[in-house]
Amino acid sequence: MSTPFLDLGDGVEVRKLEPADAEEIYAIVGSERERLQPWMPWAEGASVETTRSFIEANIATDGLDALGVFVDGAYVGGIGMRPEELHGDTEIGYWISSTHEGRGLVTRACRALIDHAFGELGLHRVTIRAAPNNARSRAIPERLGFTEEGVMREAGRTSLGYHDLVVYGLLDREWKRE
Ligand SMILES: CC(C)(COP(=O)(O)OP(=O)(O)OC[C@H]1O[C@@H](n2cnc3c(N)ncnc32)[C@H](O)[C@@H]1OP(=O)(O)O)[C@@H](O)C(=O)NCCC(=O)NCCS
Repeated sequence: MSTPFLDLGDGVEVRKLEPADAEEIYAIVGSERERLQPWMPWAEGASVETTRSFIEANIATDGLDALGVFVDGAYVGGIGMRPEELHGDTEIGYWISSTHEGRGLVTRACRALIDHAFGELGLHRVTIRAAPNNARSRAIPERLGFTEEGVMREAGRTSLGYHDLVVYGLLDREWKRE
C-alpha cells in the first residue's frame, strides 16, 4: 500500500491509488452503482478493468486524479483533482461510500486537498461543481466557504441524460487555513 499522500489523523488518510486497489474499489462501486449513477458519469460502466485503467492512467501522468480516502487501511471513497498549471486552477471531485457518509470525511479530505492546491502547488483557484439537486454535494463547498458563481447549463452528463451544474469557486486569498 502506498504511503499516505495526506494524513488527516484518526486513521483517516488520502492515498494515491495503486492498480492493486482496483478490486477493493470496484467491490464498493459495483454495490453502490444505483446510488452513484445520477451524479458520477463513470459509475454505470465501471468494472475492475476500467477502475484499474483509471488508476494506471493517473500514475502514468503522475496525476492527482485518482486518490482514495482510507479509514484504518480500508478504502471508503474517492477524491481527486487535475491541476491546470497554465491557468492556476483545479477542480475537485469526490464520492464516499454510503457506510461512511455523514461523518465529515469528504469535507476533511477536501480541506486537506485545498491546502495542498494553494500551498505546495501554488494554485490560485479551486472549483467544485455539483448538480442543483445534489444537496449533500453542494453542502461541501458551501461549508468550506466557496462562492456560488452560477450555473453551467447541461454541463453534466450521465446515462440518465444531461443536467445542469452549479459552479462554486474559491480563490487562494479567500482560503481560511487552519
Ligand atoms: C456528496 C457526498 C460525497 C457527500 O458526502 P457527506 O458524507 O455528506 O460529506 P462529508 O463527509 O463532508 O460529511 C458531511 C456530514 O458529516 C457531518 N460532520 C460530522 N463531522 C464533521 C466534520 N468534522 N466536518 C464536517 N462535517 C462533519 C456534517 O454535519 C454532515 O452531516 P449531515 O448529513 O448532517 O449534513 C456523498 O453524499 C456522496 O458520495 N454522494 C454520491 C456521489 C456524489 O454525489 N458525488 C459528488 C458529485 S458532484
